[in-house]
Order: sequence, then structure tokens, then C-alpha cells
Amino acid sequence: MPQAASAPDPYPAPRPATRERTGPRHDPEDTTGMTATPEPAPAPGPGPESGAGSPAPAPCPPESVRRVACVGAGVIGGGWVAHFLARGYDVTAWDPAPDAEEKLRRLVDAAWPALRQLGLHPSASPDRLTVLPTLEEAVADAEFVQESAPEKLELKRSLLARIDAAAPGGAVIASSTSGYPMTDMQGEAADPGRLLVGHPFNPPYLIPLVEVVGGELTRPGAVEWASRFYEAAGKSVITMDKELPGFIANRLQEALWREALHMVANGEATVQEIDDSITEGPGLRWAFMGPCLTFALAGGEGGMAHMLDHFGPSLKSPWTRLEAPELDASLRDAMVEGCDAAAAGRSAAQLVAERDQGVIDVLRATGRLPRSADGERP
Ligand SMILES: NC(=O)c1ccc[n+]([C@@H]2O[C@H](COP(=O)([O-])OP(=O)(O)OC[C@H]3O[C@@H](n4cnc5c(N)ncnc54)[C@H](O)[C@@H]3O)[C@@H](O)[C@H]2O)c1
Repeated sequence: MPQAASAPDPYPAPRPATRERTGPRHDPEDTTGMTATPEPAPAPGPGPESGAGSPAPAPCPPESVRRVACVGAGVIGGGWVAHFLARGYDVTAWDPAPDAEEKLRRLVDAAWPALRQLGLHPSASPDRLTVLPTLEEAVADAEFVQESAPEKLELKRSLLARIDAAAPGGAVIASSTSGYPMTDMQGEAADPGRLLVGHPFNPPYLIPLVEVVGGELTRPGAVEWASRFYEAAGKSVITMDKELPGFIANRLQEALWREALHMVANGEATVQEIDDSITEGPGLRWAFMGPCLTFALAGGEGGMAHMLDHFGPSLKSPWTRLEAPELDASLRDAMVEGCDAAAAGRSAAQLVAERDQGVIDVLRATGRLPRSADGERP
């Protein structure tokens, strides 16, 4: 098994900041807003070590990718196919289910009106999809592979090894896994250095976020390459530099979900009350301002520092079954500094104005307020 850390890294040099959130890059000349801005190709470098120790070709620049393969075409794989087609890529797909192609084409057709509203790439067409009878044929010419097979560890381990064996040497391979660290999945592959997680949210053609993180054997350059590729493909990318089961968003969702199940199990709240508590409450803010910055506004002019000093002692109260960390000086500083960074120079008053307008916009967009000043409803 090659040690990825010592293998030559053919990928572009990492940008200085990691764990950053980025949006899609657009060509200003492109009125559809859908054409990725080409970037200079990375300096040519040695290919990665393959399992046999022989060099393999370097990947193409992430912004030049044209051919994407999707392995597993259910809810998520099919959603990825729809997204990549809408962005103008040629997509090959494979799924072992006998009715997979029919279902996949139905999913793409159903998604297309929404994708049209988002704005299609000039080359976008469902006709660019080819469903192939074998995995090997589906990935044979791919420049990037997205695996979206069922969430079973052993299946993922052997499937990723098969994809690695069949895909061209320069192709980066991402798994849609909801929670397995890549370290647990990459061990059987001959070249584990090009395997990483690219975790989407359902449906991948509408929800922008993808969390990108490598495993212990993943080359850092592959993570950087994948983040750039997803950005060029129109995703909002969080590049994590630390592996964490469930990544970031699912850990947050899961904490809420488990507490909801506890409350239902104990007869403390109904399903309807739980759902209403979010859609009529904090959910209205979370679409445009995260939970940390919205909490900072609960601290008024004093921001997160005042919020923590004021409500910090509540962490000892039984408000949730999830145990709270010790609110020591270093955690306090990290939260205060993090909120300052997220505010990016905006004053508390500006943030309050943004929050208020955001809530009004969400209420309007969801039909709970008239859509326009003249009282027109959707
Ligand atoms: N559903 C979600 O909301 C969601 C969100 C993010 C990530 N994910 C992850 O995406 C992956 C796929 O989940 P899903 O919800 O699309 O499941 P799904 O059951 O809808 O689809 C899985 C597909 O994989 C196919 N399949 C079965 N065995 C296979 C194999 N050996 N190789 C390739 N394909 C195979 C099935 O025929 C099916 O079409 C999982 O890892 C899941 O954790 C799911």
C-alpha cells in the first residue's frame, strides 16, 4: 500500500486558507452566470504514485473538467447527475439496479424545470447523460468521479477500490457519504491518495453546500483540486482540514434531530410543535445568517462576548441532553473572534438591519407575507 503522504503530489499548491466557505466563480462576460472562469493550469508536476509505484498522469486543471462519472444513481447520485448536466458537463453513470436508468432519467426530467429557473449552462442538456452497463465503462474516461452508493462501509470500501482501479490515473474520486471518514473507506484502494469526501445536501442540484475533506492517506493537493472543481461546478464549498464523522452540517442537524426524538419519545413535544418551533422560529434566520452570528446579535452592542457572559451559565442548565463543553477563556475567545471574523467589519446595527430584512425576505419568499409592497400574494 503506498503511503500517500510520501507520494509526489501532482495537484495545484493549496491556497493559504483552509476550512473556508466559498461560492461559485463566474465568468463576468457570461450573462447566464454559469460559465466557470478558467484559471491558469497548475504547473506540470510528476504524476502520483500508482499502486505498482509507476507514475500516473496529473489531473487536468479543475476548471477544465468536462467529463464526470457518477457511480450510484439513487436520490443523491441522480441529484448529482442533474446538477452536472445543468452545468454543461458530459456525464456517465452506472448503477446496478435493473431499473436504474429509467429512474435516473425520470429524476433528471423532474429536476430540469428547477434547474432552468436557476439558469442552465449554455451547453447543458439531458442528452449529455450516458448510462453504461458496467462501472468500469462508466468511469473509463472520467476526469472526476462522484460515488453515491448506499451508506454501507464495506460496500463503500470495495466500491471505491474498484473505481480507483478503473478510473484514469489523473481523476479525483469523491464519495457522497453522509458520515464515514474517508480514512475508514480508502484502505483497499491502490491509490488512496486521490480519494476524498465530497458531501452534498439533498437535492445536490439545488442546495449549494458541499463539504470536502480528505482521509489520512489523501494527498492534500487532491482536496484542494476537488474544492476548486466543485466551485467551478457552481457549489459552495467548505474545505475541512480535520476529519470528523458526520462532517459539520450533519453533526449540527443530528444534534437537533436527536433532541427532537428525545422530546417525542418522552411526550415532551409533538412532531408538529417541533417542526413549527423551527419554521416559525430560528429557521427563519438560519437561511441567511448562521446560528453563531444570530446568537451574537442576542448580545446587543456587546455581541458574542456579552452573549456568552450573560447566558454562559445556562450551559449548566438541562436545556438539552447534549453535554455542553466547558466555557473556558479559550472557547470564549474562539467564539468572540469567530463572530468578529464572520461579521467582516459590519457593525451590530448593520447586522441587525440585515437580519431584519432577511427575515422579511424569507417570510415573503415562503408566502407568509405579501410578495410586494402592493400586497400581491403568490
Ligand atoms: N439522501 C440524503 O439526503 C443524502 C444526503 C447526503 C449524502 N447522502 C449519501 O449519499 C449516498 C447515497 O444515498 P442515497 O440517499 O442516494 O441512497 P439511495 O438508496 O437513494 O441510492 C443508492 C443507489 O446506489 C445503488 N447501488 C446499490 N449498490 C450499489 C453498488 N454496489 N455500487 C453502486 N451503486 C449501488 C442503488 O441501486 C441506488 O440507486 C449515501 O452514501 C448517503 O449517505 C445521502
